Amino acid sequence: MRSPEHTGRRRAWRRLAAPAAAASLLAVAHAAGTLAQTPATDFTPQEETPEQYPEGPNRDDAFYSCTACHGFRIVAAQGMSRARWDETLTWMTERHNMPEIAGEDRDKVLDYLERAFPEQQRARGGWKNPFAPQ
Ligand code: HEC
Repeated sequence: MRSPEHTGRRRAWRRLAAPAAAASLLAVAHAAGTLAQTPATDFTPQEETPEQYPEGPNRDDAFYSCTACHGFRIVAAQGMSRARWDETLTWMTERHNMPEIAGEDRDKVLDYLERAFPEQQRARGGWKNPFAPQ
């Protein structure tokens, strides 16, 4: 009859063996991947970091709230008032299932967005059509 101790050891061995096997498979896959990918390195887009964007309080909060789904570049491409940024967050939640950012966290994200990407100032006098009759 098997002693409980023996069974226990067998289980322990299995627990160890499975990850070890997985790890060696991963190592092989990784090596193959590295070889295959080497020539394409130039085309791999750079990872974004918060440091690429205007410095300011709560930059990390804003960056990581949005980059769960998409690059921060499309955020930084906008210039909006605080109210419009607020609407954008609501839109992200209602339309794209972004977890709602509420209370203090919402204020932090809005503080950064409003400060870093404000509504574009219109040039004085507005845009003039150079072809319009003077
Ligand atoms: C749960 C996913 C998700 C999160 C989180 C998220 N977004 Fe988005 N966002 C999307 C998707 C999907 C699109 C593109 C589709 C579209 O434009 O309708 C998008 C597009 C946008 C756009 C581009 C609109 C345009 O005119 O092209 C802006 C600006 C934006 N998001 C702002 C934000 C901000 C700011 C945050 C962080 C506070 C954020 N998003 C977080 C899903 C998300």
